[in-house]
Amino acid sequence: MYTGNQLREMFLTYFEKKGHSIRPSASLIPKDDPTLLLTVAGMVPFKPYFMRQVEPPFSRATTAQKCVRTPDLERVGKTARHHTFFEMLGNFSFGDYFKADAIPWAWEYITELLQIPTDKLWVTVYPDDDEARAIWIKAGVSQERIVADPENFWAAGPVGPCGPCSEIYVDLGTSRGCGKPDCAIGCDCDRFLEIWNLVFMQYFRDEQGTLAPLPKQNIDTGMGLERIASVIQGVESNFDTDLFMPIIKKTAEIAGVKYKTDPKTDTALKVVADHTRAVSFMLADGIRPSSDGRGYVLRRILRRAVRFARLLGIDKPFLETLFRIIQENFAHWYTELKENENFIINHLRLEEKNFQSTLEQGTLLLQEKVKALKDAGVKVLSGDDAFHFYETYGFPVELTEEILSEEGITVDLAAFSYASEEHRRLAKEQSRQMRAAVENAELTEKAKTVGPTEFVGYDHVTCDSVLLAMFSDEGELDSAGEGEEVICLLNQTPFYAESGGQVSDEGMIQTDKASAEILELKKLPNGAVTHRVLITSGVLKQGDQVTAMVNADNRKAIARHHSATHLLQMALREVLGEHVQQAGSLVTKDRLRFDFSHFSALTLEQTLAVENKINQHILADLTVHAEEMGMDQAREKGALALFGEKYGDVVRMVEMGDYSRELCGGTHVRTTGEIGLLKIVAEGGIGAGLRRIEAVAGLEALAYLREIEGQLNEIGSVLKVQPKESVKKVGLMVAQNKELEKEIQQLNTKLSKYEADTILSKVQTVQGVKILAARVQAPDMDTLRQTADMLKDKLQDGVIVIASVAEGKVNLVTVVSPEGLNGLHAGKIIKEVAAITGGSGGGRSDMAQAGGKDPSKLGEALDKVPSIISKFLGHT
Ligand code: SER
Repeated sequence: MYTGNQLREMFLTYFEKKGHSIRPSASLIPKDDPTLLLTVAGMVPFKPYFMRQVEPPFSRATTAQKCVRTPDLERVGKTARHHTFFEMLGNFSFGDYFKADAIPWAWEYITELLQIPTDKLWVTVYPDDDEARAIWIKAGVSQERIVADPENFWAAGPVGPCGPCSEIYVDLGTSRGCGKPDCAIGCDCDRFLEIWNLVFMQYFRDEQGTLAPLPKQNIDTGMGLERIASVIQGVESNFDTDLFMPIIKKTAEIAGVKYKTDPKTDTALKVVADHTRAVSFMLADGIRPSSDGRGYVLRRILRRAVRFARLLGIDKPFLETLFRIIQENFAHWYTELKENENFIINHLRLEEKNFQSTLEQGTLLLQEKVKALKDAGVKVLSGDDAFHFYETYGFPVELTEEILSEEGITVDLAAFSYASEEHRRLAKEQSRQMRAAVENAELTEKAKTVGPTEFVGYDHVTCDSVLLAMFSDEGELDSAGEGEEVICLLNQTPFYAESGGQVSDEGMIQTDKASAEILELKKLPNGAVTHRVLITSGVLKQGDQVTAMVNADNRKAIARHHSATHLLQMALREVLGEHVQQAGSLVTKDRLRFDFSHFSALTLEQTLAVENKINQHILADLTVHAEEMGMDQAREKGALALFGEKYGDVVRMVEMGDYSRELCGGTHVRTTGEIGLLKIVAEGGIGAGLRRIEAVAGLEALAYLREIEGQLNEIGSVLKVQPKESVKKVGLMVAQNKELEKEIQQLNTKLSKYEADTILSKVQTVQGVKILAARVQAPDMDTLRQTADMLKDKLQDGVIVIASVAEGKVNLVTVVSPEGLNGLHAGKIIKEVAAITGGSGGGRSDMAQAGGKDPSKLGEALDKVPSIISKFLGHT
């Protein structure tokens, strides 16, 4: 019996022997592929090769690819074969072999290497694909075991490479089936297990669904490792293979339950094992839990794992323990599980802790609910209520059912599914309309009555506020719960809303019952700030007292870049001249971008001068002072204002010592010393008379320098010298390289002389005439002639017939030296020799050349040279 690890290796080795290059699994994050959230199949990393956007570096490859699929999330643990994360074994041809090879190899692998009996196997083909059907039959599949299936057409997504496919199924026997009279291949039960899909990738499908042929025909096959392991190990489900059992055992041990005693417990154990594996591998590839995109998929799977663990009675953190088991079993192959250990564990701990406390809160509320139901003599929890627990506290309805059943209360499941359907519909609708919500008339009206939001963020990063109003797209809300995105109006705010090139703050708003993450901040024309938030736990209500908290580290990093921008503008004016005018700017936590008017590229000296000036003013630790004043007064003080920008009567002037004065609404450091360091990283033109500088400040500048230092160190270690010696060493190496090239050339010349000597040892004598007939290496006719000349010098008198094979054809040269030697004629000799290789030729009496078609006859032709010459000699 083979282990999962052995099966993975066997597959790769089998195809390596068939000329495939074994490639490591690509990341679960598809590279440069906006059409996919996650890697869902073995072919995903190869899409550019199938489409010939990139010339494939090899024409055959084989992989064990990490994949995540979530459409069947709810079925995981309930069937024998569904997973979120799985490994897919595959062999791929990029315009190389096609069906005629892919099919018999797959069949040989399944029936001979894995020894699966043919009477258990079935094959499906695309209805039109007579070619595939014929090849299967030729490979040894009996006709009645081949089933046409119109669904046999495979594509990685709505747009991309695709083609008809053929699948191999194993019949696991009636005992595994649903028992229905029409149970056959294609039935949704566990009896017929699809183990391998062979895709004959030959089309590209565009947005309109039109199929166009790909430049070349390709092969993409996929076999789930977990499935094939279950067949080979003869176990009931993928979960019973050695790929899962260690995780299931550990989970059962933590929970103090036994596997295979109760179907419900088993499902939970399987879900926990599957999901923990998925989460570990996703984190290992650098996906972070978040509220959208692939981060959300990760969070959802992780939360599901925690919920199902709770069903097993696990209420302490357990993910890290299970991760260790996964690491033990998989890290030798997937080393990222080891390399990114800290990242994985930190995120597991954090997410688990946060979610467990939400679950606890929900449990308390559910108990209150039970009491209320009991007091009222009600025995059924309504679907809406069950849904509320699901949505707000992440309670799976199974968990709610379980808790309530102890109290003799049931859940209205039909109403629950209706409520979830309804919610899904609304959520879709909501996200579609969410963007428009800011323009929502009701919101604008409300904002007018509420008036401008007081910004306290210049002096504080945290403040107490009142939640004045809350909106969804539907309109004003009284309250909203976990998972909902809403727009809040506060009486005062510490959050800076994007303006003047400075990006919005990040942060949270919290009450003692709820917390919400800031997603987007906008300042409406009347000065009211809208806070778009995602409620991450609890319920927010209109009128709540909230604490608004800016992410202070983030704010500081932004401030460093903003203050540095002011210094940059001054330094540019000093170095380049007063014509420098700001034309645009972007200030974020990790860089600044400054566009300005100037007519030529900055020289290195100018760039260094600008950088020096800025850093001198950072070191001078100038006090930053902001003050509101009238526009006239600001002008008088010489403050720089943006060309064309409209300022109200009262403006805010930001001063840095005596050096810089600018009108600006942004947030800044207290003294320039806080900027730490500024480094210009790029300078370039962006239009006529417009330049752009990008720079990094503070810790980002340090990170930038470290990266460069790292590269230098790496170069040093490759060159095996101290980093500062690298330049010298590279110079030396370049010179050395030239020397070596010279030497190689000399050696080559020597080598061909040496070869000539070796060939000369083949000289034979026929009736007193020296004859040399030999095959030599020469890429073309010219080289062959040069070789003949050289040999002639060595041989002095005699006949030379040399030949080479180039590009599948035979080249021949004959020399008779001195001319007329014993009446021999080079042209006549070569004519006869060439004829044997299916060619023709001729020429002068001292020298002739010819071509032949059949390299396999060359040996024979050269062997015949002595007798041909002897024949000519006889005639004289
Ligand atoms: N791409 C196909 C699949 O995932 C075969 O590898 O099924």
